[in-house]
Amino acid sequence: MEQILINETSEILIGRGTPDPFLPPRASRTQAAVLAQPGAGDVAKRTVRAIRSGGTHATLKVMPDGDAVKAMQVAASTYEWLADLNVGRHDTIVGVGGGAITDFAGFIAGTWLRGVEVVYQSTTLLGAVDASVGGKTGLNLRGKNLIGLFRHPSRVVIDINGIEQLPEHLLREGFAEAIKAGFIADPDLVDLFDRADGQPDFAQVITRAVRVKVDVVSADFRESGRRGILNYGHTIGHGIEVAAGISHGEAVAIGMVAAGAVSEIRCGFRGAARQRALLERLGLPVVSPVVDLEVVRRLIGLDKKRDAEGLRMALLEDFGRAKLEYVTDDDVSVGLAAIGLV
Ligand SMILES: NC(=O)c1ccc[n+]([C@@H]2O[C@H](COP(=O)([O-])OP(=O)(O)OC[C@H]3O[C@@H](n4cnc5c(N)ncnc54)[C@H](O)[C@@H]3O)[C@@H](O)[C@H]2O)c1
Ligand SMILES: [Zn+2]
Repeated sequence: MEQILINETSEILIGRGTPDPFLPPRASRTQAAVLAQPGAGDVAKRTVRAIRSGGTHATLKVMPDGDAVKAMQVAASTYEWLADLNVGRHDTIVGVGGGAITDFAGFIAGTWLRGVEVVYQSTTLLGAVDASVGGKTGLNLRGKNLIGLFRHPSRVVIDINGIEQLPEHLLREGFAEAIKAGFIADPDLVDLFDRADGQPDFAQVITRAVRVKVDVVSADFRESGRRGILNYGHTIGHGIEVAAGISHGEAVAIGMVAAGAVSEIRCGFRGAARQRALLERLGLPVVSPVVDLEVVRRLIGLDKKRDAEGLRMALLEDFGRAKLEYVTDDDVSVGLAAIGLV
């Protein structure tokens, strides 16, 4: 079992089999309120059994799937449920499932009684390598994650066996963010994907990608400078995601191809062709679907990463070496051309 420490009160456990999320036991805890995604129902039942066998009372609630859970009305009914259960200051909320449920559980735990302990059991690859790391929680309102707070879970539990069995489309979502971690900060992780014949070594991929995010985030918890490199592929990718209505992982893959082309002209990056080949091998798209280019441009312009001095993009000097650079409209056009948008 791999343990990655975030700080004195927060850790990530990566292993095989479902470890009891409550080891070692905390004497003062009387109960756990477990919020599960439908897709992670069986995992959550095992978790509840493990918690109970450790002597702690546990109650399971299966929540709406995907982002439907990240809504004010769902939060309101969950607070009522916690009140019915008498969940107190020393009790724990557990989120079992992908990034949507951990974002939700983290927000609920951060606001219930001004903050109670939260544990995440991340069962999707994207949840494991991205959403459960970094302390962001959130609910959607009109836009994504408009409501939220920063708060680290006391523990994240990741079962590699479960992740290996995920359906292809969920793996692809996670691969996009995992290989991004390699592109921006870990060339060995890029090599690992390159050497893989079929599926890469999940234990290595997850551990390395989590380490990258932990390192970047711990240098910059509240997002100003360096955390921005995690947005590699996201500036243009986000525009495509919204304009084309494709999944986040697919859009980020396309966005990385665009950012790779911008990196070539702005930072002398020489790995664009290799990056593109790696993404294709993972089954990720590398050109944009047909979209309205003006809509994409507008979305990029409205991107929250734009500040007074212009648009700032995460770019690569080399695999593992990312930096944030102000780019011109012409630079963006080069990126768009690389993904077939001219
Ligand atoms: N907090 C952050 O920093 C951060 C970062 C990235 C993404 N996110 C958030 O994460 C969410 C996306 O996460 P996601 O990609 O994990 O999607 P998700 O949480 O919506 O889960 C995707 C699907 O996987 C299913 N699922 C979960 N566990 C499963 C299992 N063991 N077997 C089969 N199916 C299973 C779920 O039921 C769901 O249908 C978004 O809400 C996004 O905003 C947050
Ligand atoms: Zn992302």
